[in-house]
Amino acid sequence: MKKTLVISLMFAGAAGALSATSAQALDTKARFMAANCAYCHGPEGKSRGAIPSLAGLEKGYFVEQMKAFRDGSRPATVMQKHAMGYTDAEFDQLGAWFAAIK
Ligand code: HEC
Repeated sequence: MKKTLVISLMFAGAAGALSATSAQALDTKARFMAANCAYCHGPEGKSRGAIPSLAGLEKGYFVEQMKAFRDGSRPATVMQKHAMGYTDAEFDQLGAWFAAIK
């Protein structure tokens, strides 16, 4: 009896922690994905070279460009290869992430 109570309390605790941090987990995932872009687009998407900055790009524009790179409708040197690795949902998360950088 006692053991069952302890176990169910543990589950309740874990579920609570999960819902509280899911927004944060998405954020962490976006940050992790965005790190793959930093080598060319600069830390936090702020480029110092010829490659365009991603920081502050409007989310709709960003997602459109990524889809165009992926399906080849926007010609690219390297971006098609990068765009291939992400889902639409991940484009959304990345777009929100870069749009939020000031
Ligand atoms: C190896 C270097 C490199 C990496 C890594 C890279 N990019 Fe790019 N990116 C480019 C270049 C170069 C262009 C210009 C288009 C082209 O030639 O492919 C570009 C263009 C873009 C554009 C269009 C910007 C605009 O103003 O129209 C977006 C959006 C973009 N990249 C997003 C990303 C994202 C998101 C990642 C990470 C998942 C990423 N890039 C990783 C080199 C890179």
